[in-house]
Amino acid sequence: MAVTKEQVLASLNGVASPDGTPLPRTGTLSEVVAGDGKGFFSITVDAAEGKAWEGVRKRAEEAVRALPGVQSALVALTAERRAGAAPARPSQSVAPQAAPHGPAPAGARAAPRGEAMLGVPGVEAIIAVASGKGGVGKSTTAVNLALGLSSLGLKVGILDADIYGPSLPKLLAIKEKPQTIGGTRLKPITRYGLTVMSIGFLIEEETPMIWRGPMVISALTQMLREVEWGALDVMVVDMPPGTGDAQLTMAQQVPLKGAVIVSTPQDLALIDARRGIAMFKRVNVPVLGIVENMSYFLCPECGTRSDIFGHGGARREAERLGVPFLGEVPLHMTIREKSDAGLPVVATEPDGEHAIVYRNIAARVRDQLKGPAAGRAAPKIVIEA
Ligand SMILES: Nc1ncnc2c1ncn2[C@@H]1O[C@H](COP(=O)(O)OP(=O)(O)OP(=O)(O)O)[C@@H](O)[C@H]1O
Ligand SMILES: [Mg+2]
Repeated sequence: MAVTKEQVLASLNGVASPDGTPLPRTGTLSEVVAGDGKGFFSITVDAAEGKAWEGVRKRAEEAVRALPGVQSALVALTAERRAGAAPARPSQSVAPQAAPHGPAPAGARAAPRGEAMLGVPGVEAIIAVASGKGGVGKSTTAVNLALGLSSLGLKVGILDADIYGPSLPKLLAIKEKPQTIGGTRLKPITRYGLTVMSIGFLIEEETPMIWRGPMVISALTQMLREVEWGALDVMVVDMPPGTGDAQLTMAQQVPLKGAVIVSTPQDLALIDARRGIAMFKRVNVPVLGIVENMSYFLCPECGTRSDIFGHGGARREAERLGVPFLGEVPLHMTIREKSDAGLPVVATEPDGEHAIVYRNIAARVRDQLKGPAAGRAAPKIVIEA
């Protein structure tokens, strides 16, 4: 039995805060994620009151767990430290919390829906690069797409929002941590003309995976609101792979103008791509198109092309779903080597054949942003898997 957000909130009416206010009326709750026997959300309070709220967290979790149909309930308590109260060591001021009960940086808070959706001042369009499953080349595509957009004369930023495996520091060879400005705002890093931030700068490596989902909202809000992005035409967001609760929350919380779906040509990956498209449809984000990555094998020695994965699946799928097809990127050693060495092909071999492929994809994305996809919701999708 599926549990709804309304049922979760209703169950929380019986849970009182330390001053007796019913929990849903305290303004401390994040977006509630519910469904498929699960309910989770976070409570954000002032660090000084953290202890008093621990019992509330427990009772909230019990209340949700007691709902019929709920198998697992997870309520995270995040403590916010007021600006000025935290010691000013840069590494501490940018790390939200190694554990959910630890102190969050100055100003970090769970965003009620709406706050994060306001848009980021100075940023014209935010687009997500997403995939239904991991390892399909989403981050590689995001970086080269961002560089492609930049080479078309746009001012471009890239946000690594892959909370489970941030990879931009590696793909762009970033070793330094962002500096703080005035102790509360973060200065992004500039690389190859892109303005770059990674959620990896905020989440400690040892943070257990299970806590990363509930941390998504506060970390994202911080990345969007407390970073000096400056004026950007496009911000490309590298999303975490998959279509689970954390991904859905992200798609809901970021004011996205559109989404680019990356898929490999295999049927299995396409089923995942379909799920990805359906997820954006649920949150009314237009799908700008599908990129087929590792589309065909290009022999580095002789240049011969082999369709080892049965190339063309994503194009057919895009047609079937009525979603634009943005292009095919070959499986090529140079792309992998350059990508993994922090030397993305579009920046380091701008005249090479791969850069041309990515620039063409970027041009289609730019046209989609100007054109028909920008104003409409994603097409109707029937999920068969
Ligand atoms: N077109 C390509 N040709 C060759 N190698 C590629 C190509 N695209 C991606 N790769 C390589 O495949 C691996 C996975 O790519 P990437 O990290 O971009 O995937 P991802 O979908 O972001 O993965 P994750 O789900 O772990 O975030 C990397 O080693 C990357 O260099
Ligand atoms: Mg990735």
